[in-house]
Amino acid sequence: MTSTIEIIPEEWISTTGTLQDNVAGILDCRKNPLPVPYAVKMSVEDFRYHGGPRWCELPPRHLLLPILVDTEEDKIVMHDGLAEKWRADIRIGPNVTYPDVALPYRHVLWRPTPLLEDIFQILEENTQPDKRSVIDLGCGSGRDCVYLAMRGWFTVGIDIVPKTCTRAQEFASRHHVTEQTEFHTVDIAELEYPENSFDLVIVARTYVPRSLWDKVFSLIAPGGYLLWHHFLDGCNHPTGEKLLKKGELREKFDSVVDIVIDEEKELAAPDNRPCSHFLCRKR
Ligand SMILES: C[S@@+](CC[C@H](N)C(=O)[O-])C[C@H]1O[C@@H](n2cnc3c(N)ncnc32)[C@H](O)[C@@H]1O
Repeated sequence: MTSTIEIIPEEWISTTGTLQDNVAGILDCRKNPLPVPYAVKMSVEDFRYHGGPRWCELPPRHLLLPILVDTEEDKIVMHDGLAEKWRADIRIGPNVTYPDVALPYRHVLWRPTPLLEDIFQILEENTQPDKRSVIDLGCGSGRDCVYLAMRGWFTVGIDIVPKTCTRAQEFASRHHVTEQTEFHTVDIAELEYPENSFDLVIVARTYVPRSLWDKVFSLIAPGGYLLWHHFLDGCNHPTGEKLLKKGELREKFDSVVDIVIDEEKELAAPDNRPCSHFLCRKR
């Protein structure tokens, strides 16, 4: 039997029409839905198999993930695919309506590296619009590149895994920023860009061997930024030399940069791994 819900649950969107704090948006997997505010449309098929191409478009895992589906069978598929890792709240809702049609319908669920979101204003205020190029080392899904490309930056993502680069290209295409983005399959050790090529270099959760740190730094143009967000000593994954030591980035770059942010704090629960949140500006 199919049950219906008539309005968006208040656990998702408040009666005044704002998203609840622990909700990034709604995943709408219904086939022919009426529009729902703050929803992103994907198909149940996208999630039928583990490791589907659109995982990177889901919200951070500490947030509630509201999902709308058509049938009990779809609910089971989504539950099997997602519930283990996401806090999924799946409802069968072919007749969902929302009284206030003025609410936003265009939305994304995914988030960039939190530090990038936090410091985006600083970047905008301190870079000229014609000097907004970025390289993301170990770009993975390409989320940071796409986030910046959607805001007018020219972005280059590099990753050592070819399939990852293909997915990043698809991700960029779904967000209509292919002209602003390039993705290349290359090892950081093999990069051949000249010195001073980029206004921002991002290292987000990517292990960069210490022997390559000078090379990475040389890619930043004078006045450009280095954003480095990585796991610290004390993590159980990754481990060993792949972890940063406390204060290590400051010690390495202090004499040649102005440090803007140097914080060491845990990721949001339930992850809780200690991480460095480091932003500096090359003199
Ligand atoms: C944990 S993921 C982080 C992805 C992305 N930066 C993010 O925060 O969503 C690390 C990525 O770095 C890539 N990677 C690891 N070593 C690399 C290397 N030597 N050169 C290029 N990419 C590398 C991996 O393939 C992986 O996609």
